[in-house]
This record gives sequence, C-alpha cells and structure tokens, in this order.
Amino acid sequence: MKEGENFRKIIEEEIEKLTYPKSPELLYSPIKYIMGLEGKRMRPLLVLMAHQLFNSNVEKSLPSAIAIELFHNFTLLHDDIMDNAPIRRGHPTVHKKWNDNVAILSGDVMMIKAYQLLSMLDADILKDVLDVFNKAAVEVCEGQQQDMDFENQETINLIDYMRMIECKTAVLLAASLKIGAIIAGANEKEQAHLYEFGINLGMAFQLKDDLLDVFGSPKVFGKQLGGDILANKKTFLYLKALQLADDSITARLKWYYRNNDKSKTKVNEVKAIFKNLNIKKHTVSIMKSYHVKAMKHLDSIDSDNKESLILFSNKLMERIS
Ligand code: IPE
Ligand code: IPE
Ligand code: MG
Ligand code: MG
Ligand code: MG
Repeated sequence: MKEGENFRKIIEEEIEKLTYPKSPELLYSPIKYIMGLEGKRMRPLLVLMAHQLFNSNVEKSLPSAIAIELFHNFTLLHDDIMDNAPIRRGHPTVHKKWNDNVAILSGDVMMIKAYQLLSMLDADILKDVLDVFNKAAVEVCEGQQQDMDFENQETINLIDYMRMIECKTAVLLAASLKIGAIIAGANEKEQAHLYEFGINLGMAFQLKDDLLDVFGSPKVFGKQLGGDILANKKTFLYLKALQLADDSITARLKWYYRNNDKSKTKVNEVKAIFKNLNIKKHTVSIMKSYHVKAMKHLDSIDSDNKESLILFSNKLMERIS
C-alpha cells in the first residue's frame, strides 16, 4: 500500500472514531453527515505528509490533522449557505437538507471541536501551532468576505483575485503543512519552505476548482456545475476572458455577471464564451506556474521522505476535466 493511501485510511478511521452526543439531534446529525461524506481529506493528508518528512511517528499529528479537517468542513457548511450551493460531495448540502440555522450552528460547534483536538498538543508546541492555525482561520474569513464582495463588484483586478483565493483556500493548505512540520520538530526554515509550498499548491488547487466548476464532470466534481457562473463569481476564468474578449463579448459577459439570471442558458452561454477564448488553456498554464514554484520550495527541504508530497502535487495537476 502506498503511503498516501495508508495515511488516507488512518484518517478515515480516525474520523469514524469521532463520537457525537445524541441530542440535540439537529446540532450533531449534520456534523456526522458532512464528516461521513467522501471528501478528499487533503488537509489532514498534508499534515501527516509534512510530519513524515521529518519524523515517522505521524500518530502524534493525528488529532491536529482531524482538527483541521473539522475546521475545513465547518467552512464548507457556511460557504454553501453563502454560495447558495445545493450539492456537496455528491449529496444535498447541510443547509438544503436541514436549513440555514442548522448549518450555521453545527458549523460553529465543529470549529470548537477543532480547538478541543488542537488543545491535546504538548504544551511546548501548542502556542506555535495555535498561532499558525488562528492566522489561517482569520485569513480564510477575510478571503470568504472578499469572495462575497467581488460578486457585486464590477471590476476586479487579477492581483486582488489571487490574494482572495490565497486567503480563502491556499492558507489552510499551507497551515496544514506547517503544523505537521512543527509537530514533527522541523526547524523554522523548513517550516517556511513547506508553508510556501502549500501556498503555491493551494493557488493551483483553487484555480483547478474554479475550472472544474465550469468544465468538470458532475459525478466526479460532486457539486453543482456552473455554480460560480450563477453566483456571478469573478473567478480567474472570467477575469481572463475579459482580458481576451472583444468589445461585444466583453459587454455580454459583463451583462450576464450583473444580473441575477439563474438559468441554464446563462451557464451555457458563458461556458461557450470561455471555450471560444480558450480559457481552460490559460488557467492550466497559470496552475502549472504555481506548481513549479511549489516544487522549488519542496526541493529546498532536505528529506528522504518527499515521495508522497511529490505524488500528491502531481496528482493535483492531472485530469483537469
Ligand atoms: C472545497 O475543498 C473548498 C475549496 C477550497 C475549493 P475540497 O475540494 O478540498 O473539498 P473536499 O473536502 O474534498 O470535499
Ligand atoms: C471555498 O471556495 C473556500 C472555503 C470553503 C473557505 P469555493 O466556494 O470555491 O468552494 P466550493 O467550490 O464551494 O467547494
Ligand atoms: Mg465560496
Ligand atoms: Mg462554494
Ligand atoms: Mg469552488
């Protein structure tokens, strides 16, 4: 069994071990539901893989890895309300299956559970880990608010968009790696390289998520296709299209992203514009440049155990459809 698969098994078993009180049923059932749906578990995997670079006793990082997965799932519950998303991991979102209030409060308690797990760390590293975690958690909220602000903003520059996705997505991947490294006893330089590796990988990952939102296959993606278009998300795809389009297409795109049309026609027309402008190629190319930067940071780390992280990063770059 490959190491990544082994880690994945360890993580699933640990998630299954989480117990929830019976009552209040509407507080805990949604947590069991979302945590039980098949996610990629990228963040806990990154914690363990980072730990493994420096020390093989990855068990020590396990509670923190699960804490970060809980925190991630909490953000998904709230994100799906904010994005009005009906489907997550191929199943109804918590706010659709139950309601918004349930998704808010179950999310809140998941965040507290995350802190309970983090607080199991040894006192000598607890503060360092909490600092990394708290910084990332605040930045995720900042990114999420910017993401919402951009829905109603007509002009957004690419640099602002990149900063937004760095906050909402990349920092949590980076923090996961750094936390695994801290627990394993890595030095500050190693921690910093891993953090930057995670930022760059996270950028590529969010760009891929944006791409799959339009061009993915519904079964594999597990979310409503075209959701970003319907919510007027000014993703990289849209911003690049505006750079490349002629005046009439620009006007059409802007018109679509100004109104609240929730029709399939809107999705299909915007998708056709993206296709004509070869937006997929441009997105993949920028993803690749982030991937190259990520790998340079991994190269700077001295370890005989990089294989899982290399495989993980390469997998992220494959099958973009
Ligand atoms: C979804 O994260 C939110 C984004 C940052 C794009 P994942 O794509 O990691 O979701 P799961 O956990 O695998 O379902
Ligand atoms: C969400 O970004 C990032 C967080 C959950 C913090 P998206 O809104 O693109 O994620 P998906 O596509 O719903 O998973
Ligand atoms: Mg969102
Ligand atoms: Mg969303
Ligand atoms: Mg998305």
